[in-house]
Amino acid sequence: MKIAVLPGDGIGTEIVEQAVRVLNALDLKLEMETALVGGAAYDAHGHPLPEATLKLAKEADAVLFGAVGDWKYDKLDRPLRPEQAILGLRKNLGLFANFRPAICYEQLVGASSLKPELVAGLDILIIRELTGDIYFGQPRGRRVSPDGHFPGAEEAFDTMRYTRPEIERIARVAFEAARKRNKRVTSVDKANVLETFQLWKDVVTEIGKEYPDVELDHMYVDNAAMQLVKAPKKFDVVVTGNMFGDILSDAAAMLTGSIGMLPSASLNSSNQGLYEPSHGSAPDIAGKGVANPLATILSAAMMLRFSLNQAAAADRIEAAVQKVLAQGLRTPDIHSEGTTKVGTREMGDAVLKALG
Ligand code: NAI
Ligand code: MG
Repeated sequence: MKIAVLPGDGIGTEIVEQAVRVLNALDLKLEMETALVGGAAYDAHGHPLPEATLKLAKEADAVLFGAVGDWKYDKLDRPLRPEQAILGLRKNLGLFANFRPAICYEQLVGASSLKPELVAGLDILIIRELTGDIYFGQPRGRRVSPDGHFPGAEEAFDTMRYTRPEIERIARVAFEAARKRNKRVTSVDKANVLETFQLWKDVVTEIGKEYPDVELDHMYVDNAAMQLVKAPKKFDVVVTGNMFGDILSDAAAMLTGSIGMLPSASLNSSNQGLYEPSHGSAPDIAGKGVANPLATILSAAMMLRFSLNQAAAADRIEAAVQKVLAQGLRTPDIHSEGTTKVGTREMGDAVLKALG
C-alpha cells in the first residue's frame, strides 16, 4: 500500500507529521513517500505542483495531503499560486467526489457554535462535486465590459458549468452513500436563478428514480445555509456543486466544534483518493505548534477505510481520537474551561498512546 504524503505549507507540515506518526504505529505495511507541494514546492522548484509530485501522487494508492497557501503568494500569477496544486491534483487524478462528514463528537457538544440540543448526535455527510462548476468553467478572465450596467468598465468573469455525466456520477455517489446511512439525500441547488443548477436538479431527480429506497429532496442553497444552522440534524446526505459545497461544508464544520476536527476524502471512480483536512494552511497559527491535528488524523482514518481496505485500522484511529477527547485534551481551537490545553505534538502523542 503506497501512500504519497504531501504536507504542503503552513500548518500542513505540523499536522501531517502527527498523522504519519499515527499511521506508522498501526503495524500495517504502508510505504509512505513525501514530496513538496504548494508554496513549499514553488519555493524549491518554481511550481506548486512539480512533475515529480504529480507522478508520485498518480502512482500511489492514496494521497495524504496537508494544506497549501500563504498570503505571501497572493501576488503570483494564478497558475503559480499554491492553491493551483490542489486543483491540479483533483483534475489529474479525476477526484470528483468530495466527502465531508460533519460529526459532532459527544465530547465536543459544548464546543459547537450552536446550542447543545441542536448538535448532540449530529452526523451528516456533505458530498461536494469537485471537478466542475465555476472553479473550472471556461471562459474566464478580465476585460473591458462590452455591455451591461457599466459598459467600458473593467470587469472579471468566471463561467458556471456542469455537464450531465458529471451530475449523474456525483448523484450516484450520493445515493449509494445514503443507502449505507439513513437513506436520505438533500440535493442543494439554485435552480430558481441558475440554468446550471436547473440541469443539476433535473438530473439528480432522474438518477433518484433508480434509488426508490432513498428519499430525495431539493433545497435552494440559501435555505440550505439557513437550515444547516437552524436544524442540522434534519440532514443525512447533502449533495451539491463545487462552490456551494465549499461554502456549506465550512459552515457545517463549525457545528462540530472546530474546522480543525473535520476530515475529508476526495475520490475518483477507482476509489483512489486524496485525504486532507477540510481547513487550509492557517498561516495565522503556522509554526506555533498549536494547530489541531485531529482533522488530518481522521483523514488518515478515512484513507485506510476508503482506499486501502483497512476498516479495522480506521476504527482504531477514530476510537483513539474519541478517547483523547474524553480525557479532556484540547488544542486551543476547541479548548474551553475544564479541559486541558495541549499543542499539536502533544495531541499526536495522546492519540498514539490511546491507540495502545
Ligand atoms: P484556514 O482554514 O487556513 O483558516 C481559517 C481559520 O481557522 C484560521 O483562523 C485558522 O487559524 C483556523 N484553523 C484552520 N485549521 C486549523 C487547525 N487545524 N487548528 C486550529 N485552527 C485552525 O482558511 P483561510 O485562513 O481562509 O486560508 C488560509 C490559506 O489556506 C489560504 O492561502 C487559502 O487559500 C488556503 N486554503 C487551502 C486549502 C487546501 O489546502 N485544501 C483549503 C482552504 C484554504
Ligand atoms: Mg474551503
